[in-house]
Amino acid sequence: MQWVNRPNLDFRGFSGTIASGTIEVGDEIIVIPSGKRSTVKEIVTYDGNRDIAREDMAVTLTLNDEIDISRGDIICKKDNPAEQADQFQAHVLWMSEKEMFPGRQYLLKTGNKTVPASILKLKHRIDINDFSEVAVNTLALNEVGIATLSLSAPIAFDTYSDNRNTGSFILIDRQTNATVGVGMLDFALRRASNVVWQDLDVNKAVRSEQKNQKPALLWFTGLSGSGKSTIANLVEKRLLDLGRHTYTLDGDNVRHGLNRDLNFSKADRVENIRRIGEVAKLMVDAGLITMASFISPYRAERQLARDLLEEGEFIEIFVNTPLEVAEARDVKGLYAKARAGEIKNFTGIDSEYQKPQNPEIEVNTVEMSADEAAEMIVEYLKDKGFLAGYEG
Ligand code: ADX
Repeated sequence: MQWVNRPNLDFRGFSGTIASGTIEVGDEIIVIPSGKRSTVKEIVTYDGNRDIAREDMAVTLTLNDEIDISRGDIICKKDNPAEQADQFQAHVLWMSEKEMFPGRQYLLKTGNKTVPASILKLKHRIDINDFSEVAVNTLALNEVGIATLSLSAPIAFDTYSDNRNTGSFILIDRQTNATVGVGMLDFALRRASNVVWQDLDVNKAVRSEQKNQKPALLWFTGLSGSGKSTIANLVEKRLLDLGRHTYTLDGDNVRHGLNRDLNFSKADRVENIRRIGEVAKLMVDAGLITMASFISPYRAERQLARDLLEEGEFIEIFVNTPLEVAEARDVKGLYAKARAGEIKNFTGIDSEYQKPQNPEIEVNTVEMSADEAAEMIVEYLKDKGFLAGYEG
């Protein structure tokens, strides 16, 4: 591909010369090195559009998808992509008065790309009178040798015997810009990759696969002092032991940072949960098994958080501790203050808590210890396939 032909906004064509083979309208193509794919929409030439074009023809291709192709990329048929490599054995004809030295760097220019290249080793010179091989250290003007070349970047190529166009190159002196040699690629010594890069977007699926897990949001809801954070922490520790990637968002810590502008009025609690839902969604998108531990007293906002995620990702865990029990424990001494009127809008005292109607998991903390609850939740994750590759 030599240039992007864009005469107006409605037309975007890719112009170049066909190095080998044929191309037809409707052919599936792959771009090297990006691996992007599309199909040929039109083949435009100076003599009008064609259905098929052959080797050596200058054409402009339009494609059925909006993909980016850069100057120097190679457009191949999907089933027959050009190979890429960065080390070759090659025949070189030296054309400069200054002799060639192994180790020196030149520019290697093929039909589609120019890259810095050095001659690693000169294997021998070919005597053009009797084709015998002569051991040498340099090549002088008009001498032909077999050399190994190392390129600073891979190029798409064919061997010269397969294709004169994509199998040949010139060598350029970097100081003078003069052509100092011409060559033919015999074969690749080290293939950059036989597999063409897939057009891989880094997305949730890719991030999760890297972490060997299915991301989820474990949403712990319940009264203040019900045990949400205690259980969430135990779950996180167990997941860590299983080599999983996690994060915990917690009422007390989020309210010190992101949500420090919010109090416990109804409006602010709604906003609190809305923001947390959005943050949790980003964490799930990052591929994390995320724990959110908030009173989240209103059904509507818990539903809102659920709706931000994909089916099955939101796991509502009702930490069911009756008010009398939470109040009797009063770990932080807040219930006493609320009863004394020192804290207003305290959940369960003078602010309502709407119990979940259909939580995925319900933990009865009167009958179950925090450890047992954590165990149950991890079992749930295993059963539902969130911990891919889990054994035992
Ligand atoms: S939520 O209702 O908006 O979901 P959140 O979980 O973020 O509440 O914060 C609850 C924590 O804030 C409690 O565990 C408690 O430590 C503290 N807190 C301070 N004031 C109140 C209050 N009026 N009601 C409930 N919790 C409060």
